[in-house]
Amino acid sequence: ALNIVIMAGGSGTRMWPMSRTAYPKQFLNLNSDNSMLQETIQRLHGLSESQTTIITNEEHRFLVAEHLRQLNKKAEILLEPVGRNTAPAIALAAFRAQQRGDGDQLLLVLAADHVIENSSEFRRVVQQALPIARDGKLVTFGIVPDSPATGYGYIRQGEAQAEAYKVDAFVEKPDLATAEQYLASGEYLWNSGMFLFRADRYLEELKEYRADIYQACEAASQNLSADLDFLRINKTAFEACPDDSIDYAVMEKTDQAVVLPLDAGWSDVGSWSALWDIKEKDQHGNVHQGDVIDRDSHNNFVITEEKLVATIGVDNLVIVDTKDAVLVADRNRVQEVKDIVGELKQQG
Ligand code: GDD
Ligand code: MG
Repeated sequence: ALNIVIMAGGSGTRMWPMSRTAYPKQFLNLNSDNSMLQETIQRLHGLSESQTTIITNEEHRFLVAEHLRQLNKKAEILLEPVGRNTAPAIALAAFRAQQRGDGDQLLLVLAADHVIENSSEFRRVVQQALPIARDGKLVTFGIVPDSPATGYGYIRQGEAQAEAYKVDAFVEKPDLATAEQYLASGEYLWNSGMFLFRADRYLEELKEYRADIYQACEAASQNLSADLDFLRINKTAFEACPDDSIDYAVMEKTDQAVVLPLDAGWSDVGSWSALWDIKEKDQHGNVHQGDVIDRDSHNNFVITEEKLVATIGVDNLVIVDTKDAVLVADRNRVQEVKDIVGELKQQG
């Protein structure tokens, strides 16, 4: 059976002050009545027979369980004692799939915090990818870029291969000058951060390029302890695992990757301005959530949880008012929110 693996262990600092360490982006209702995690689960509805594994950290287990309960959905919840980024997280899910031993152990690896507007197109492309992955390829899903964003991986699309395209190069988070070159060349797609591959194929590639991560995850996957729907990873073994993302650890190195273009209204919603981009706006370009009145104000994004917020004669602002913090930012500088969060962390 197809294993849907949802990575839900990120800290989502870029959506501060709505997201917090205790309440990261995947648990927020940013673009619908459901949380991003719930949307991720729902959009797969109708895809072939599958089983779902959510991999997250210990601290967020009750949030995940509660969000599943609301959907009346069953999933296995793998708990990491510490965060070691996505290469290890996916390895744990792959070892777990092998332990369960059911079916052909294809893993559809998804981020828990993306928006995809056209679910049926997404499912169609995933279906198309299944035989390619069964054949042993590591399938990525590529997005036509529309800006030189530096927060994404870039995939150089090579020649047609097995109903997809060969990945000629994979460059994770290039600097701005490089990203600008890639965009201008027209030869690159963004890596959507979703993958499809066989558990054994991922583990083989990981073993080849990062044997240290492979071994630590193999050890950490022994004697998982079960508790309700939770499965706990071995703490001492996993703490010894190096920290790295799948993009650096495997995708930049493997020559077994292929890419399928995906045109389904994908967005990583990695910032307040990215969310404003995809929201429906009023005739002045404003997006208002909560109690907001405005006069002569344009292209603002105002979210308020409790208080009434009024804007007069201001443009291109992001204003996020929560119980205990208020963000007022230039909409073009919201990337710096993560620096504020960094400073706050240092202050403790
Ligand atoms: N379980 C678990 N454990 N999940 C994690 C961990 C971890 O240690 N770290 C991150 N995640 C989850 C996040 O919650 C998110 O759903 C997903 O893994 C990806 O992590 P991000 O931290 O959001 O990665 P990114 O956005 O910087 O980069 C990735 O996604 C981009 C597209 O959005 C890369 O794959 C890029 O190449 C890609 O372009
Ligand atoms: Mg992300």
